[in-house]
Amino acid sequence: MGTILLSEDPSEAASQGVPAPHSASAVVAPSDGSTTSRFGPESVKIGGSSSANGAGARESGGGGGDALDYAAAAAIPHSCIGVVSRDSEFVVQGGSALGNFACVGEADSNGGMHENRGASGLENGGECGPRDIHLVCPDVVGLQPVALVDHVARVDWSLLESVPGERGGSMRVTEEELDHILREVNSHFLMSANGVVEQGVKTLAGGSVANTIRGLAHGLGVKTALVGVRGTDDRGEMFAENMAHAGVDLSRLRAVPGLTAQCACLVDAEGNRTMRPCFLNAVRLQSEELTGEDFKGAKWVVLNGYGFYGEDLLERAVDLCKEEGVKVSMDLASFEVVRNFRPTLMRLLESRKVDLVFANEDEARELIKAEQNPCPETCLNFLSKYCERAVVMLGSKGCIARHGNETVRVPAIKETIAVDTTGAGDLFASGFLYGVLNNFSLEDCCNMGCCTGGAVVRGLGGEVGEEGWEWMQQQLKFRKLSLIQHTTRTT
Ligand SMILES: Nc1ncnc2c1ncn2[C@@H]1O[C@H](COP(=O)(O)OP(=O)(O)OP(=O)(O)O)[C@@H](O)[C@H]1O
Ligand SMILES: [Mg+2]
Repeated sequence: MGTILLSEDPSEAASQGVPAPHSASAVVAPSDGSTTSRFGPESVKIGGSSSANGAGARESGGGGGDALDYAAAAAIPHSCIGVVSRDSEFVVQGGSALGNFACVGEADSNGGMHENRGASGLENGGECGPRDIHLVCPDVVGLQPVALVDHVARVDWSLLESVPGERGGSMRVTEEELDHILREVNSHFLMSANGVVEQGVKTLAGGSVANTIRGLAHGLGVKTALVGVRGTDDRGEMFAENMAHAGVDLSRLRAVPGLTAQCACLVDAEGNRTMRPCFLNAVRLQSEELTGEDFKGAKWVVLNGYGFYGEDLLERAVDLCKEEGVKVSMDLASFEVVRNFRPTLMRLLESRKVDLVFANEDEARELIKAEQNPCPETCLNFLSKYCERAVVMLGSKGCIARHGNETVRVPAIKETIAVDTTGAGDLFASGFLYGVLNNFSLEDCCNMGCCTGGAVVRGLGGEVGEEGWEWMQQQLKFRKLSLIQHTTRTT
């Protein structure tokens, strides 16, 4: 059995014909039949003992056999994209909680990889080149210039009142202010009826785009990748681990020495969240570092108004996406972002390069400005002037959306208890985009969004847990919707 190892070292990978930045993936299939899948800096070992022969090397060894190879490929967990060899052939396998993908190809004598058949992403119109390590192109790429770790906790009013800035928004704070908030959190947790702390602080990979991409990958089986920068500190490692576990392709996420940003997400008893992020000294992606490669092969890109904090970043990303034929979706992020960057945002909308826009009521009202309290329809009319698809999200009231001449209003899912609304809009976008990718009607795109948005508010943080995904599946059934398998197994 020959085993292909691809390097995490870009120069080594380049010598194998794998273009950076698509070089940070490798799988070890040692002769004892165990499989170690390496994705970016992560390493997941499946059975047997791990082979640590060093990334970049190529080895051959005996043992295994077809059945074992395919079994090993199938055993690569939800969270991984992996490669298992079979003589001169290889199997690429990856997936998510609800779907997997696989393709088969040949390894050439130089260690290059040529896809032969079966990658669902390619069948669906992806444009991966034959030597592209990921063979399976992401359908959706998210751009989050700054990797972020969220510290989420349900806290009492007194803490929220002492935190500067408007309730419900997202105001940037200094490191000292963030440290102070996080220290205070410990003595302000919400208590259950019998006087016990309900839940402590939950720390997880955060950021609006990361939330959307993670939801698409983990719960909906969509092939996704994240573009951005993370630090090589513990928070950066944690960010990458969390996203890789969800099945997100991290080969376009740069890891650079430095700090990863963090954010305090304070949730009140009604589930409303107030965010206080700190980006000072955190590593970030500069606009000039973006290239067409970052978006290549994708059908959609997920952008967020927070990107306006990086000069020219969103404008450049949109232009690159247009050159690559990638459709652009953008969430307006927060009313503060709209307030701070209104002229830039309007310029971008007026360019008509944003194909799909998501706004909540506060953001849309801030954008319109003209009227005191415009109704959601007025907000939608405004956004629809610039974007082919526009959605105004209305929290527990659902959403209103327009595509061309069609307008729909879809209620939220009532059968959910909002523990924490962090990420509601982000996960709504996951579901809505899933519908768009699968040519659902506008109403069903909204239904999908309401199911995924409803799922995330059931737990703490912008990540849907296993219970949440099961709940979502039930809600889809009630609405006569189901997930389309994105994947074709080759076995
Ligand atoms: N309390 C709730 N009950 C049921 N569904 C909800 C609730 N809150 C939000 N949702 C769902 O999530 C969607 C998006 O919510 P919302 O309008 O609060 O977005 P948002 O303000 O952008 O959220 P965030 O910025 O925190 O991610 C809603 O359209 C709805 O379908
Ligand atoms: Mg939002």
